[in-house]
Amino acid sequence: SLTRHVAWVTAFPLLTSCSGIQSALDPAGPEASDVARLFYVMLIGGGLIWAAVVLVLFYAARKAREPHSERVAGRVILWCGAIGPVIVLTMLLSYAVWLIPNLRPWSSAIAEGVRKIEVTGEQFWWRVRYLDEEGEVLLERANEIKMPVGQRVVFLVKSPDVIHSFWVPSLGGKMDMIPGRTNHIMMEASKPGIYRGVCAEFCGPSHALMAFFVEALEPSDFEAWLAGSGTAETDGASEGHALFLRHGCGACHAIDGTEAQGRIGPNLTAFGARGSVGAGTMPNTPENVARFIRHPSEIKPGSRMPSFGMLPDGDAERIATYLAGLK
Ligand code: CUA
Repeated sequence: SLTRHVAWVTAFPLLTSCSGIQSALDPAGPEASDVARLFYVMLIGGGLIWAAVVLVLFYAARKAREPHSERVAGRVILWCGAIGPVIVLTMLLSYAVWLIPNLRPWSSAIAEGVRKIEVTGEQFWWRVRYLDEEGEVLLERANEIKMPVGQRVVFLVKSPDVIHSFWVPSLGGKMDMIPGRTNHIMMEASKPGIYRGVCAEFCGPSHALMAFFVEALEPSDFEAWLAGSGTAETDGASEGHALFLRHGCGACHAIDGTEAQGRIGPNLTAFGARGSVGAGTMPNTPENVARFIRHPSEIKPGSRMPSFGMLPDGDAERIATYLAGLK
């Protein structure tokens, strides 16, 4: 029947979204667990109110014709329709407000020796900066975030253009990235793994193509990665590297340890180690990278990268091969 069909169509995405690397109902850290618990508590609270309202409805339908029904009905409506919901909603609100300090660090937590990572939402990618204790930038990368397992990390989120929203459902709540201010959100991963994050605020034609990956590493691996990443492996003598510079890619993109020091677009250091091209848009293969270089806005509408369709035959492929070799 149609009803059953509709039920399946709605249930399927609901059920499949309960687990995986991007699900608020499959939490991988304490902040995300708080959010998941809040969801279930709200669901139960909402269910109670719904049940009360339905009971009142049935009661009213049955009693409407009996004498003196007004007085009884008034009492039922008062309790089930007003006092009951107010009690339930007040309890839900108190619980939600009580959770806020766990999810949003107060300034004292920011000042303490908590690891800080600054993430800037750009149209349509993510600038990721690892900060030291004083807030100086240690390292800049793009579209992938590495964080240590078992440690709370404060994310400082900002935007230079329009409002974006930073959301890693498996690790915590979501936080708007608003031009002109810095917002804070705290997240902790309790087990190593890769989690997917997305932009959760409509920000332009490629809003849906603005994803990123968070990799949670053992703290020692994270520190080793942070310490060793300043000098990324590059094949400075390769043809692709020379073409990268000759065609001006270095004006917008930086590759640490080379002459390419552009700051406008995503940093491409260790690009070959990334899982995706175009902030989660396509798998990272040299073919896809060459396509992206030639026609970025066909793949990501509204992308600010100019198109390089005019490059001589094979140049985009050679640059792509060079980028794939950066590990
Ligand atoms: Cu950035 Cu939506």
